[in-house]
Amino acid sequence: MAEIAVIGCGQAGLVVATAFASLGHQVLGIDIDRRKVEACSRGICPIQEPGLDALLADGVQSGRLTFLAEYPDRIEADFVFIAVDTPTLPSGASDLRALKSATNSLAPVLRDGAVVVNKSTVPVGTCDEIERVLRTSGAPGATVVSNPEFLQEGDAVRNFTRPDRIVLGSNHPASLARVSSLYQDFDAPIFACDVRTAEMIKYASNAFLAMKISFINEIASICDVLGADVSHVAGGMGLDPRIGEKFLRAGIGWGGSCFPKDVTALEYAASLHGVRAQLLRGVVETNRDMRRQVIRKLRAEIGPIEGARVVVLGASFKPHTSDIRESPALEVANLLRFGGAEVLVVDNHVAPDAVTAQFPHLTVADDLLGAADGADALVLATEWPEFLELPLEELARVMRRPLIVDGRNVLDDRIVRAAGFVYRCIGRPGAEGGGIVINEGIDREPVHLRNGRSPVLASD
Ligand code: UGA
Repeated sequence: MAEIAVIGCGQAGLVVATAFASLGHQVLGIDIDRRKVEACSRGICPIQEPGLDALLADGVQSGRLTFLAEYPDRIEADFVFIAVDTPTLPSGASDLRALKSATNSLAPVLRDGAVVVNKSTVPVGTCDEIERVLRTSGAPGATVVSNPEFLQEGDAVRNFTRPDRIVLGSNHPASLARVSSLYQDFDAPIFACDVRTAEMIKYASNAFLAMKISFINEIASICDVLGADVSHVAGGMGLDPRIGEKFLRAGIGWGGSCFPKDVTALEYAASLHGVRAQLLRGVVETNRDMRRQVIRKLRAEIGPIEGARVVVLGASFKPHTSDIRESPALEVANLLRFGGAEVLVVDNHVAPDAVTAQFPHLTVADDLLGAADGADALVLATEWPEFLELPLEELARVMRRPLIVDGRNVLDDRIVRAAGFVYRCIGRPGAEGGGIVINEGIDREPVHLRNGRSPVLASD
């Protein structure tokens, strides 16, 4: 078993620290946030991540997991993982201040032969720079291995313990081999490459996933005008193993703390070196447009949104997390607010203060029916399970205008319409009441497309 230190106990670092401790390693977590360190030291998990609380409590209780808010005089660990935040600056560049500070703090306290393993998402070339700084400021023998993380919020513990792949990049084969020994019992391919390639794999992976979503969203916009159903298009495409079914859910687009920053940082890095990454630019632009589509769909039904009362269902950037960073739901809420609408955001998984501290002009409501009273529309923006079971009849009764714009294509259009709602979604004009619905033996009147083009089988 190894001695491991993890610098940065945030969303990724804490998972790495607790998971390694659960495998029997001795782990020291270091974070400059004292309150976080105090909570962790008592076995209390400061972030919402399924399975992490139990793992953290076990680790602390067993004595295999300890935390410090300051760097000790000497770190005895064989491996020092860096997992600090690298947000985006307004220019598009990555903010590497936390990483630089961690590197400077580490240099004088690293023990000889320790391998520094970087997990933070960093511009290509950064690990080389970390190594240079370490070697010139106190740790002449330091080597760095890039080990990008592919953890999804809400599924991070499982992603770490049962990964699809482990990517290790280094210019030092011996160090790379030592880090790979930490993962020898994992049932996953270990992909070894040079350090810059590993850094790029992380960006390319996130950019590709964001592109996949923007792609299906662009197809959804085309479906909207041509009368096809994007859900079925995605289903049919996804059966091709070269395409795959995942990340083809059309909607109001991607957000969170990773895709927006990583796609922007990659495009910025490319532009710095004279490469016009036009596809990446398009990926971002399509994503932005998906938010605007909601406004257009609302306008088509209610006319000017100024003065309208709209309830936005969801604040987090995706379900099963309270994280609101770059949340598509809140971007839609903001667009509506700036358009003059009265906006009420409902998401009982997110602390209202977290929303209003960032967006003081938004109102957070905890009572759905109260918020919907007199409303002109509901916009489903984050697909929390409870929004899939809305009290439709009651909502239709209290709303001024029973209209739902389903920004995640998750509601059953027939049920919603049967409750008296006008239903609008993304890329499924048939589901909006314009297609011909043919389903198992249920007798229903064929409905024709509003745009008069070819008919659509909305379900079959
Ligand atoms: C993402 C990647 O999926 C992880 O592999 C990566 O490790 C992580 O970023 C990171 O760089 O740290 P995460 O930000 O947790 O993970 O979120 P995702 O589950 O990927 O979802 C991102 C956004 O895409 C969400 O807003 C989600 O609603 C949206 N999405 C996802 C869609 O709109 N459609 C889809 O089909 C899938």
